[in-house]
Amino acid sequence: MYPYNLEQIKIMSEEDSQKNKITEMLILALEDELKDKDYYMQMMEQVNDKEVKEILRQMSLDEQKHYKYLSQIYKQLTGNEPVVQVGKVEISGNILEEIAKAFFGELEAVEIYRRLMFLFLNLQIRDMIYEIITDEQAHAAKLNYINTKYRAKKETEE
Ligand SMILES: [Fe+2]
Ligand SMILES: [Fe+2]
Repeated sequence: MYPYNLEQIKIMSEEDSQKNKITEMLILALEDELKDKDYYMQMMEQVNDKEVKEILRQMSLDEQKHYKYLSQIYKQLTGNEPVVQVGKVEISGNILEEIAKAFFGELEAVEIYRRLMFLFLNLQIRDMIYEIITDEQAHAAKLNYINTKYRAKKETEE
């Protein structure tokens, strides 16, 4: 089902504290992925532009894929299914503000995933997290594109 077939996970240090830190980071990341998936779906419903709708739909699917990858890593590391609960994500009607917020959120995610990636020794795991990192970078670039498109639209309307 997944493109990655995980072997035993090896981390930088076998100390319990590091394993705990990683599981904590994974749970936080899983929460964020679930929220982002929901957030981009909602944003998609708010916009009328067909191209922007398709970009947002694809981004939401990416976040869903990230969730799958991270839960697979979590399961392999701990032997348990991750327990993740998030409330409903609120989105304002101010699309330009939301796009800016999402843009910086994506850049932040890149830094968090880079830190997470360095804690693993397996190349497989690093490849998975690297795939997530490049997706989040692409998300930031796409949000930048959407922002430009909306601002240009606004100018022609004024
Ligand atoms: Fe993501
Ligand atoms: Fe993202």
